[in-house]
Amino acid sequence: MKHFLSVEHMTKEEIIALLDMAEKYRQDEYELTKQVFSANLFFEPSTRTKMSFIVAERRLGIEALEFNTENSSMKKGETLYDTAKTFEAIGADVLVIRHESDDWADELKDRMNVPIVNAGAGKKDHPTQSLLDAITIYQEFGSFDGLNIVIAGDIKHSRVARSNAQMLTKLGANVYFTGAPDFMDDSLAYPYVTMDEAIEMSDVLMLLRIQHERHDQFSSSTVNYNEHYGLTIEREKKMKEHAIVLHPGPVNRGVEIDTTLVECDRSRIFKQMSNGVYVRMAVLTTQLLKWGIIHEHDIKKRNSTFGGQPVTKMRSVN
Ligand code: CP
Repeated sequence: MKHFLSVEHMTKEEIIALLDMAEKYRQDEYELTKQVFSANLFFEPSTRTKMSFIVAERRLGIEALEFNTENSSMKKGETLYDTAKTFEAIGADVLVIRHESDDWADELKDRMNVPIVNAGAGKKDHPTQSLLDAITIYQEFGSFDGLNIVIAGDIKHSRVARSNAQMLTKLGANVYFTGAPDFMDDSLAYPYVTMDEAIEMSDVLMLLRIQHERHDQFSSSTVNYNEHYGLTIEREKKMKEHAIVLHPGPVNRGVEIDTTLVECDRSRIFKQMSNGVYVRMAVLTTQLLKWGIIHEHDIKKRNSTFGGQPVTKMRSVN
């Protein structure tokens, strides 16, 4: 793995190493001591991902260079590639990029001399989201083996669905999709279940927002969506006792989830966001190490040896 662009080519061991490092940061065991600059290049709106990268960077002591598409030279016609090269030239050590194109990384990945971290690519990849979802699930169950994880909603237009299905399958979970028929994607080889089957079988129910901005035509499935495909109060009552609810955010209250359930006992929605900081600290550190921008002696370790035994001791569910 050169840049951090996709779950597709990650091994289970690489995923677990990142989850381990995130835990170390969460437990305040690591600290970065070298000055590093990052550029957060967000060409699509973001609250959670952008802000948690900024918090992750600040906690690592990384100086984030400000960038806003509205007042950047992209307004004068500068391309994504030239913008990225500009940040590399002026001293950014790592680029964090979100862009509406599925394949924005293709024109950059072989031409950049600093690591790129994918903060969201169109409807294709959102690898740091799947890491934070994985660590949230791990914290709950201590394992992925045999867990039934149902991803519910606008599968067709969701990068979260794609990255999570890949990552959670690699980690040993059984991944299913559910949603309105015109939100399904036949190119994705995961079993589909009905919402009511999903409610009964899921250990983890991951709800997705309808990605209106990626729809090219009106979908009648969006009418009375909560009643037909959302998590209603009645459906929540039928879930397994231990089942949890995830949502990558932003949440459309009353659409994919009843507003009263956003902070219900099963909801781990805000915990996911907190975990986002730690996994992004781990991804940034790993990339900077891999590219030789920092070295192990730049990481102050408090209570443990770097690269030691993983904290993640997998155990089987049931
Ligand atoms: N989950 C997620 O990517 O949220 P933002 O779009 O707010 O970053």
